[in-house]
Amino acid sequence: MASGSCSDAPVAVRVRADGYSISVCTDEAVQDRALAADVSAGLRSIPKDLPPKWFYDDEGSRLFGAITRLPEYYPTRREHEILQRAAPEIATLSGAGTLVELGSGFSHKTRLLLDAMAAAGTLEGFVPFDVNQTALRATAAAAVEAYPDVAVHGVVGDFGADLRSIPGGDRRLVALLGGTIGNFPGPERRKFLAEIASLSSAGETFLLGADLVKDRSRLLAAYDDDAGVTAAFNRNVLGVINRRLDADFEPRRFTHVVTYDEETQRIEMWLRSDGAQEVYVRRLDLRVSFDDGEAMRTEISAKFRPTQIGDELEAAGFSVLAQWLDAAGDFSLTLARRGDGPPP
Ligand code: AVJ
Repeated sequence: MASGSCSDAPVAVRVRADGYSISVCTDEAVQDRALAADVSAGLRSIPKDLPPKWFYDDEGSRLFGAITRLPEYYPTRREHEILQRAAPEIATLSGAGTLVELGSGFSHKTRLLLDAMAAAGTLEGFVPFDVNQTALRATAAAAVEAYPDVAVHGVVGDFGADLRSIPGGDRRLVALLGGTIGNFPGPERRKFLAEIASLSSAGETFLLGADLVKDRSRLLAAYDDDAGVTAAFNRNVLGVINRRLDADFEPRRFTHVVTYDEETQRIEMWLRSDGAQEVYVRRLDLRVSFDDGEAMRTEISAKFRPTQIGDELEAAGFSVLAQWLDAAGDFSLTLARRGDGPPP
């Protein structure tokens, strides 16, 4: 497979002896600059606001893995349930040879899709795409081991910015699972979906996992578990800023807060300052103060109605092929094909 180019860094392609190749769009230095820009803007905005992608350093990725096993956090299990049932149909309907997984982690979910494509006799390539290079390499290596005849090419990047670095392939199926689409606010979501559509050729397909609107108490519990794992995940973003930008946040002086707004259908996670405090970010030479009780937003996680997902995909230039819900109606998977028409 040929590799594309990354948006803001020279692409580094390394062919590895253990059987996979990799494009590094965002190495540590590029990520540090992007983090610096986001923190600089986010700590100056009102309310203070940080993008959720910075949760996922090695510790954050580990904590997210623990979240997926919490009794309160239903999305991972529900999506897995749907895939167990629908993966063969997804393989047949898409006819795809290459699976491109955005924000991959080599979960059982990925395996279900790859196994179904292998059983359909179409599987030729796998392109995991992730911001965390450690996770990406583990995923690529495990895929090579499990599917020795499949071409595996990893991309380390920000899928909000580096989508163009996804290599062309034989009928690609792009998958964005887990409900990650909910992290994009409305306007950015429309732009992102249109971008995925525009990089797809006619006939290529897109599989979107999206969490559904439901009873607010269950939504709130899923993001505020009794064991405090989500709280630790939320506070870890302060540790990321401390380590990478030489800041002096005291994570224990911030409280994990979760809200759900029925109107915008949005879960939001916040960190609320316990007492007034000052923080210094040395690499930015930036001093910021938090009032007592001031909250900084760290994540939005939008929830959807099933018809809304189809409408948004159609608006982006896709035609919906099928949609599946789990038995409880908690989560959705939608498969759409890039139309032959001109882009919208
Ligand atoms: C990985 C973005 C899908 O929004 O449910 C889980 C992240 N945050 N618990 C989500 C998350 C807190 C998760 N996504």
